[in-house]
Amino acid sequence: MNKKAVIFGATSGIGKALAALLVKDGYKVAITGRREEKLKEIRATNPSQYIIKKHDVTKIETNSKVLQELQLELQSIDLIVYSSGIATPNYNLDWDKEVPTIETNVIAATHIYGMAYKLFKQQGFGHLVGISSVAGVRGNRHVPAYFASKAFQNNYLESLWMKAKKSKANIYVTDIAPGFVDTKMALGSTFGMASLDKAAWQIFVAIKKRKKKAYITKRWFFIACLMRLMPAKVIMKLS
Ligand SMILES: NC(=O)c1ccc[n+]([C@@H]2O[C@H](COP(=O)([O-])OP(=O)(O)OC[C@H]3O[C@@H](n4cnc5c(N)ncnc54)[C@H](OP(=O)(O)O)[C@@H]3O)[C@@H](O)[C@H]2O)c1
Repeated sequence: MNKKAVIFGATSGIGKALAALLVKDGYKVAITGRREEKLKEIRATNPSQYIIKKHDVTKIETNSKVLQELQLELQSIDLIVYSSGIATPNYNLDWDKEVPTIETNVIAATHIYGMAYKLFKQQGFGHLVGISSVAGVRGNRHVPAYFASKAFQNNYLESLWMKAKKSKANIYVTDIAPGFVDTKMALGSTFGMASLDKAAWQIFVAIKKRKKKAYITKRWFFIACLMRLMPAKVIMKLS
């Protein structure tokens, strides 16, 4: 039987490219996001393999209904990927700019990670993947909520990984930490920028290998190690 995946945040960028690779690999893939026209365009490329669901993850009260509907439609779900994310520079610490980032990257992510984990527990198997970021390694004075939200995701995903391991559940948890990938999210940065195709392929391989954590591209593992050792004053000058 074909494997089935759900990707939250697949109307563009990493989620969309990963969905295409999964479809190519024979998965039936449910893709979500707020932009319905993008979802329809993607479905049109392979109508039998894509299911679409217009959905805003920050409308927390709708999350469980959406996942339940997809579970009913797919019957079982092998893989759930949370790729939804936003990043807004916030030089003046405007509260109105911080809130959507926290709602999308922290509150909705936590809600969906938890629902996915419980769904897998109930069906007896499954693989949860969160697209976090190398941004989780240190702070950043320009985009503070984004960097903090990604640190939250790193630790939450590791906690779920530990929970699954300890209970010997047939559940896998993978934290994907990209550096810069060529999507609109990259905020104009070019340092170590990976093409979307290369990044999506490495993410696909990490999922197949059921890795606990994968830096995308691989060189970001070494950059993240260096970043951890650097004094904050040096990090500050680099960003
Ligand atoms: N590109 C990079 O350099 C980079 C680096 C590290 C980590 N990442 C992470 O990778 C993930 C994907 O980003 P990307 O680079 O592929 O950027 P992107 O093209 O902007 O994709 C972001 C996705 O998130 C979805 N999304 C945003 N807000 C949402 C909401 N409220 N409800 C549902 N979906 C929502 C968007 O769909 P709609 O707008 O249609 O809702 C879109 O599909 C993010 O979590 C990002 O933090 C990216």
